[in-house]
Amino acid sequence: MKLILLGAPGAGKGTQAQKLVEHYKIPQISTGDLLRAAVKAGTELGKQANEYMTAGKLVPDEVVIGLIEERLKEDDCKDGFILDGFPRTVAQAEKLEEITDIDAVVNIAVDTSILLDRLTGRRTCKECNAMYHLIFNPPKEEGKCDACGGELYQRADDNEETVKSRIETYNESTAPLVDFYRKKGKLKEVDGQGAIDEIFQNILKVLE
Ligand code: AP5
Ligand code: MG
Ligand code: ZN
Repeated sequence: MKLILLGAPGAGKGTQAQKLVEHYKIPQISTGDLLRAAVKAGTELGKQANEYMTAGKLVPDEVVIGLIEERLKEDDCKDGFILDGFPRTVAQAEKLEEITDIDAVVNIAVDTSILLDRLTGRRTCKECNAMYHLIFNPPKEEGKCDACGGELYQRADDNEETVKSRIETYNESTAPLVDFYRKKGKLKEVDGQGAIDEIFQNILKVLE
């Protein structure tokens, strides 16, 4: 099963990807997580990427394509994978077609008006990247990850100004991928509003 999750910032790609990992036993590949790891490690790539991420802009295509190409060669990808946050431009999608065949693309559709609250209230685990929300999906113990006990933090780009820029970037560069994959007959649409588990069940349904 080679899957792509499409959706605006805050649509729930990461949240649903983590549930799909458990269900299908295939890895989640998030370019955002890969880039944040590079920023944290202080590599040259991380330093470059950080400027774009802080501004809510896309990291250049060559950089993320290079990351994905390397990641997909790893052993754990041989039975499939879930791409979360890649591709994000038509150029990235075209390049991906040269690398591998995708089975399905799930578009998690949400109203733009709910995204700001979802993102400014998000908290992420430093250790395992699990996502929480102060109001919509709080951890059992404040500031601590339910799954691994790790410390929760707020992502540097989850502030109001950067979120607005990320949404603009999405509308300009990534939203056209919905049509791109629809024309290829690969698009599955899922309503991204409602309870997290209900959305997950709907994703499984469209993938059957
Ligand atoms: P990335 O990390 O991919 O961020 P994003 O696309 O902006 O998406 P998010 O991770 O913010 O949202 P999500 O859909 O995963 O939502 P989540 O499940 O966490 O990318 C970051 C940056 O890296 C980019 O801006 C760019 O600079 C760069 N980058 C990454 N990939 C790139 C690429 N391919 N090309 C170029 N640049 C790239 O949910 C959000 C919150 O809502 C959570 O708190 C969650 O608990 C809550 N929530 C989830 N579902 C529900 C629900 N149903 N009801 C209520 N709350 C919910
Ligand atoms: Mg995410
Ligand atoms: Zn954790």
